[in-house]
Amino acid sequence: MLKLRVKASREYDIIISRFNGSFPECIFNLKNFKKTAVITDTEVYGRYKNVIDSLSVTNSIYKYVIESGEKSKNGENYLKIINRLAENGFQRHDAVIAFGGGVVGDLAGFVASTYMRGITLISVPTTLLSMVDSSVGGKTAIDLPSGKNLCGTFYQPAAVIIDTAFLDTLPEKEIMNGYGEIIKYALLDKRISVEMLSESADEQLIYNSLCIKRDIVEEDEYESGKRALLNLGHTVGHAVEKLSGYTLSHGECVVKGLKAALDISANLFNLDSGVYNKILSVINSRGHNTSLIYPTEEIVKCIFSDKKSDGDKVRFVALKNIAEPEIVSLKINELNSLLIAKSYN
Ligand code: GLY
Repeated sequence: MLKLRVKASREYDIIISRFNGSFPECIFNLKNFKKTAVITDTEVYGRYKNVIDSLSVTNSIYKYVIESGEKSKNGENYLKIINRLAENGFQRHDAVIAFGGGVVGDLAGFVASTYMRGITLISVPTTLLSMVDSSVGGKTAIDLPSGKNLCGTFYQPAAVIIDTAFLDTLPEKEIMNGYGEIIKYALLDKRISVEMLSESADEQLIYNSLCIKRDIVEEDEYESGKRALLNLGHTVGHAVEKLSGYTLSHGECVVKGLKAALDISANLFNLDSGVYNKILSVINSRGHNTSLIYPTEEIVKCIFSDKKSDGDKVRFVALKNIAEPEIVSLKINELNSLLIAKSYN
């Protein structure tokens, strides 16, 4: 079992082990709460019904099963769930368990952070992406008709329990999705070497990823500075994800965005060609497709039309070298030229 402590506005432990769906009472004692709401989705519930039902050690567990998929991260589901918490008499000392991937985590986190101005949140991520990224750091959100994640809070969980056995049944596509973020960590920090990216995700790789994220979050919980480094690969990645109508997975788009960030780094900072090629060869050998699919102009237009863009400039994370990221401010024409300029391949 590996454990790491996050010292943010709330201190909490992340526990990583192969629990096989059977959590020891010392780390998962729901008797501390009078009532617990488990929020999950149809796919996760279908796969882990036994595990979720076995959490019902008392008769005060309530289950809220949303349809799986990004479309469920909406205001309607949010209101439905908090109304049901109220109808069922949930109080401030009760708890919400986010049992699932990123969508469940974001929605359940937003529910927990706003119901009665905040009740305990326990995260049990079931996808590689949520294990290494979204379950940690306290970002919660729902989508609005005008954009993804436009309504949300920073709200740290009370505990994150990672059962690596969930990875056994995770479709390969979902493993690839999680690797998008792991590759990002390897570019940001040497605690994940490029060589480690060829290995399969295990406790240690998840632990190292989370140590990198934890250190950044502890320094800048509310993203007023350094936390923006975690957006490496996401500027172009989000645009491609949006242009695809969210048919491409987040991780798949992040990998495309990372390739774009490498190209921009090559053109902007002369990122070493050996480093560039080494990273690309690992990305390719993992079977990721780095093609941006859409014309550069369309991607750049999409980036600048984003509600979160900063007027006529966008903050972009580029690399001087591995583990030497730098945030640069780019104008529309600068981003466009850097993306189309020839780099090493
Ligand atoms: N996923 C990026 C962050 O948590 O800041």
